[in-house]
Amino acid sequence: MTKKTIRAIDALQEAQKIAFAPFIFQTTVTLRKLGVFDLIFDERGLGGVTISDLSKKLSVSEYGLGVLLEIAESYDIVTKDAQGKFELTKTGYFLNYNKTVEVNMNFTNDVCYQGLFHLNEAIKNGKPEGLKELGDWDTIYDGLSQLTPEVQKSWFEFDHHYSDGIFEEALNRVFKNRPKTLFDIGGNTGKFALQCLNHDENVKINIFDLPGQLKKALANIKNEGFEKRVVGHEINWLHDNPQIPKGADVIWMSQFLDCFSEDEIVKILKTCVASMDSDTEVIIIETFTDRQKFDNAKFVLEATSLYFTVMANGNSKMYNSVVFMELISKAGLTVKEDLAIGEFHTMLVCKK
Ligand SMILES: C[S@@+](CC[C@H](N)C(=O)[O-])C[C@H]1O[C@@H](n2cnc3c(N)ncnc32)[C@H](O)[C@@H]1O
Repeated sequence: MTKKTIRAIDALQEAQKIAFAPFIFQTTVTLRKLGVFDLIFDERGLGGVTISDLSKKLSVSEYGLGVLLEIAESYDIVTKDAQGKFELTKTGYFLNYNKTVEVNMNFTNDVCYQGLFHLNEAIKNGKPEGLKELGDWDTIYDGLSQLTPEVQKSWFEFDHHYSDGIFEEALNRVFKNRPKTLFDIGGNTGKFALQCLNHDENVKINIFDLPGQLKKALANIKNEGFEKRVVGHEINWLHDNPQIPKGADVIWMSQFLDCFSEDEIVKILKTCVASMDSDTEVIIIETFTDRQKFDNAKFVLEATSLYFTVMANGNSKMYNSVVFMELISKAGLTVKEDLAIGEFHTMLVCKK
C-alpha cells in the first residue's frame, strides 16, 4: 500500500475501531443471530423499522437492541432516520446476505475467535497455540473429524466454499490426457474424487489423508457406490519419510500445500517426484496472495494465514506465487502450464 495522507482525527478513529474490533464483530454476529438484520431488511419497503417495533416482533429488550444498533450505526452498518427508523447500509446488506462474508464470519466466530487470543504465543513458539481451545491435537487436521458439529460445519463450509467452485472447471484440464489413475492428496471429504468418478467411468482414484478424514472420504465414496474404483491410504506428511506408491498419471493437490511450511512443501513434493515417471502430471491448485484482482480477496487470504498460525499448524500460510514457484523447482519439478482458474485460483501443471 502506498503512503496516504490521512487527517489525524480520522487515523485516531481507525485506531479506535481496531481497539474495539471484537466488540463490533460480536455485535454483528449477535444482530444476525437475533434476526435483527433480516427484519430491518424485510421492512425496508415501509421506510425502515424502529427499535420499539423490532423489540415487539423479536421479543428482545429495547435496551439490548439499543446498545447493538447504536454501535452498528457508528460503524456504518445501519442508518437511523429522524423518526428513529433503521435501515441496512450496503455494508449491513453484505454482512447479512453475502455468502462469502457469511462463511468467513462463521469460520472466524466458531473456529478461530477464542483461539486468536493465543496469537502472541503462537508467533513466539511457532505452534498453533489457539488450537487448545478446540481440542488436544498437534494440528487442527488431526482433529477435523472430532470437532464439535457447529465448529466442524463452519470449518467445512469455509474449506468447501473456496474449492468446490473450481472443481468442475478443473476437470477438463485434469482429464485432458485421459488419466487412468489419479492420486488425490489431501482428499478431505472425497468431494473432488466423486466428481472425477462421475466424470470418467474408467478412472481409478487413490485418496491420501490423515486417518479421520480418510475414513470420512471413503464412507462418502461408498454411499455413492464407487468403492471398487477407490483405494484409501492413511498418511501423515509430518511424520519421517512419508511414502506414496508409484503409478499415478495425475497427482492432484488442491488447497493442500498451504497447510505446510516451505520446507515441508519441498519434502512433500520430493516424495511425489520419487513416485513419478516422466509422464506423470502434478496438478496444484492454490490461491496466491499476489494474484488477486481485488484487495478484499488478498485480505481474506492474509487472515487465512493467521488461521494457519494460531489454529492450524503454527507454520504455514497462503503463499505468494514467486515464493511458491521456487519451492516447486527446489523439489525437482518444472511448471509446464500456469493457468488462472475461477476468479481467485491458480492451477499449476508440473512434471519432473
Ligand atoms: C484445506 S484441506 C483441502 C481439502 C481439499 N483438497 C480441497 O481442495 O478442498 C487440506 C487437507 O489436507 C489434509 N492434511 C492436512 N495435514 C495433513 C497431514 N499432515 N498429513 C496428511 N494430510 C493432511 C487435511 O486432512 C485436509 O483433508
